[in-house]
Amino acid sequence: MSAWQIHGYGENEKLTLSTSSRIPAIKHPKDILVEVHAASVNPIDIRMRGGYGHSLFNIWRNQGGMFSTRSEFPLVLGRDFSGVVIETGKDVKTYKAGDEVWGVVNAQKQGSHAEYTVVSSSEVALKPKNLTHVEAASIPYVGLTNWAALYSVGELTPSNTRGQRILVIAGSGGIGTFAIQLIKAWGGDVTTTCSSESVEIVRDLGADVVIDYKTQDVQYELRQQDRFDLILDPLVSKKRVEYINYLKQWRNSKLVTIAPPFLRNIDTYGVVPGVVKSVGDLSCDVIKGAKDGCSVRWAFFTPSQKGLREISKLVEMEKIRPVVEKVYDFEDLLSAYEKLEAGHSRGKTVIQIK
Ligand SMILES: NC(=O)c1ccc[n+]([C@@H]2O[C@H](COP(=O)([O-])OP(=O)(O)OC[C@H]3O[C@@H](n4cnc5c(N)ncnc54)[C@H](OP(=O)(O)O)[C@@H]3O)[C@@H](O)[C@H]2O)c1
Repeated sequence: MSAWQIHGYGENEKLTLSTSSRIPAIKHPKDILVEVHAASVNPIDIRMRGGYGHSLFNIWRNQGGMFSTRSEFPLVLGRDFSGVVIETGKDVKTYKAGDEVWGVVNAQKQGSHAEYTVVSSSEVALKPKNLTHVEAASIPYVGLTNWAALYSVGELTPSNTRGQRILVIAGSGGIGTFAIQLIKAWGGDVTTTCSSESVEIVRDLGADVVIDYKTQDVQYELRQQDRFDLILDPLVSKKRVEYINYLKQWRNSKLVTIAPPFLRNIDTYGVVPGVVKSVGDLSCDVIKGAKDGCSVRWAFFTPSQKGLREISKLVEMEKIRPVVEKVYDFEDLLSAYEKLEAGHSRGKTVIQIK
C-alpha cells in the first residue's frame, strides 16, 4: 500500500511517500482494518513530525508491542479518517466488512495518512450518512477534542448549556469552528475571537459576538462584556490563563485550556521531571483561578465512541456541518502540511486518499 512516512523527526523533507508498505495487520481481536478514503491534517501532525510527544508516545508504543525494531520509525502520521471496513478482529461484533466508518487513531499508533489503517473498534463509529468521506474526515479529531474539553472536562451537556455564556478563543480554526457549532447546538451563547478574514465564517456558524483581534483590542472588548461561564482556549501561550479575569467569580466557571505544556514538559525534561513540572504548572493555574472562585482545567483529545456517536447524531440533524477549507490529493500531502503550518486556517484541511 501507499503511506506517507517519516524516518526521523524534522520538517517536511522528512516525509516520504512509500508505495510498497505492508498493509497493517490486525493484532488484537477488537481491532479493525480500514481502507482510508480521506483523512484530515491537524496541528498535532505537524508537531509530531518534529518529535512532539515522542518521549511519552514511545513508552506507550513499547507497552503496546508496536516496536518491531526498537524504533518508532517508519512512522505514519494522521489522527483521523473516514473510510470503509475491510476486515474485523474476531471479537468485533458491531462492525462488518463494507461498513462506512469514521474515527480516530491514538497518537502512539501508526496513523491514517496511508491507504489502510488498523484501529480499535472503540475508536470508530458509523459515518454520518449525509456526509461524503472528505467531509466526514474533517470532524473526528477536532470533534472529540471538543467533546473532551467541553463535555468531559468543561461539564457542558445538551441540557445545561442553554443560557451559559461561553468564550471560544480562535473561532476560525478546526477546533473553533467545531466548538462554536457544538455550543450553539446545545443552546449556549458564544463569543469568539478571530482575524478580520474569518469574521463572516464564524458569524455564519452561529457566533453571537465576534471580536476581530486584528482590528479590535480583545482585552478591552472582553472587559465591556458580561463575564463568562466557560472559556475554551486552544492557543499555546506563555500566559496560559490570560483570559481568567473574564470568568464569572464564585459561580463554578471554568477556563479549559487544550494547549497545556504536559507533553512539552516531558519532551524537555524527561518523563519523571516532566510530570513533576506539569503538576507544578497545573497547580499554579489552579491556584490563580481558585482565588476568584474559578476553576482552571487542562483537557486533551480522548477517543470516545459515545462522543463520536453523539457528534454523528448532531451532524445527521444538520446542527453541525463540516467546515472544509481545502482538499488535497494524497500525493500532494506535503502541500497540505505546508498550508496548515502557515496558520490562518478557516476550518479544516483534508487529504483525499481514494
Ligand atoms: N490538547 C489536545 O489534545 C489538542 C487537540 C487538538 C488541538 N489542540 C490545540 O488547539 C490548537 C488549535 O487547533 P486547530 O485544529 O483549531 O488549529 P488550526 O486549524 O490551525 O487553527 C488555529 C486558528 O487559530 C487562529 N488564531 C491564531 N492566533 C490567534 C489569536 N491570537 N486569536 C484568535 N485566533 C487566532 C488562526 O487564524 P489566524 O492565524 O488567521 O488568526 C487559526 O484559524 C492547536 O494548535 C493545539 O494547541 C489541542
